[in-house]
Amino acid sequence: MRRKFICSKCGHIFPQWYGRCPSCDEYSSIKVYENIDKPNESHISITKKSVTDINIDTQIRIRTGEKPIDAVFGGGIVPGSLVLIAGAPGVGKSTILLQIARFIAEKGKVIYFSAEESLGQIKLRADRLKINEETLFISDSRDTDAIASNISCDKPIAAIIDSIQTVSSRNIAGITGSVNQLRYSTEKFLEVAKDNNIPIIIVGHITKGGLIAGPKLLEHMVDAVLLVEETGEYKLLRATKNRFGTIDQTAIMQMGENGLTVLENPEGIFLGDKINASGIVRSVTIKGSQPLAVEIESLVSPYGIGKSRAIGFDVNRAIMLSAIIEKRLNIKISEHDTYLNVTGGVSIDEIGVDLAVCAAIISSIKNKPLNLNYAFIGEVGLAGEIRPVQSIERRINAALRLGFTDLVLPNTSVTSKIALHKIRFLNDLIGYI
Ligand code: TYD
Ligand code: MG
Repeated sequence: MRRKFICSKCGHIFPQWYGRCPSCDEYSSIKVYENIDKPNESHISITKKSVTDINIDTQIRIRTGEKPIDAVFGGGIVPGSLVLIAGAPGVGKSTILLQIARFIAEKGKVIYFSAEESLGQIKLRADRLKINEETLFISDSRDTDAIASNISCDKPIAAIIDSIQTVSSRNIAGITGSVNQLRYSTEKFLEVAKDNNIPIIIVGHITKGGLIAGPKLLEHMVDAVLLVEETGEYKLLRATKNRFGTIDQTAIMQMGENGLTVLENPEGIFLGDKINASGIVRSVTIKGSQPLAVEIESLVSPYGIGKSRAIGFDVNRAIMLSAIIEKRLNIKISEHDTYLNVTGGVSIDEIGVDLAVCAAIISSIKNKPLNLNYAFIGEVGLAGEIRPVQSIERRINAALRLGFTDLVLPNTSVTSKIALHKIRFLNDLIGYI
């Protein structure tokens, strides 16, 4: 009899019990993982092949029906892969997957295991999405082992498990959703996917602190992790891990009466009406490989205690940029409260909008509105120097398509029909405010 132990906090597996987890230092978190008689593995022969003798057809990818979604999967779904789609409850995971399932079912059998919702609930959603494929099967089984053997026997083109937190196995200790169960179910589906060369997509709910149980646990086990996020009225689908492709693709969707629509040209969706007020500036950021025009607003209050708040932008970076403005341009900011906001609920996680943030802050302080036909792009260094940013050509081309007339940006060899104002230091920015 071999016993294994698992930490219910971090999900590490150990050959023996500990009072305190050697991995995450949690006390009393080690529980029995499984009690399975295993043969002595040293006597089992394994097959191996020379690397030159292994043939795989990497060309075969299963299309999802939407090019941007295929791109997030790394060029379609890879047969035999286990993919985790994670997101907050209600963000639209089940809707996306039902739509993908419908498209794949045009070519053959797809099974959607809905452990979370009843057949009736799925049917209501399917009606809303006008889904009527005979080859799309829905099951409400919650039994990991039954689902696994069903997939192996039925051999569908693809299977979906919604969600991994609501299926469980009777062979394993722990309640549904516990680390034990999550780990067992994910391992089981991984095995079924690989053995049968069938892609399995599992849904995982995320709360603010990460996946409900064992935050990083599932991410390590699956081939790809796709995240569904909400940004204002839009849903973003992007990969945070992908063994079969890049992670720089983003699909932007909108939820409507009849499900999700993938936007073909999302680059301008976050631009509002042009408002003639100080502190508003436009820029072009990059989400994955997608250029996205954004509006950054700053309000530097006339009084305050030097407090800084930022929504959609790293507040520490905003404070640093304020300090650079204060030092290099001799403009007093530190005695004022400053607020920064990226409109539309967009969150920016790159430095290419530094210059725009500075322009917004200075515009607010001077109470001078900016020309919104201009976009500001560039990283700002501590010496006040304007540094080049990634994907500048893509940003310029997006700005051109969106009708910007002028760009203020770092020195670049790129030429464009847009008037390019290349600046080297923060001092040069003043001329545009
Ligand atoms: P859902 O896919 O159930 O989210 P998740 O599986 O991530 O929990 O859908 C979330 C929301 O979308 C839900 O509040 C209802 C709404 N919705 C629409 O607005 N239109 C539609 O056509 C569908 C199917 C859902
Ligand atoms: Mg759901």
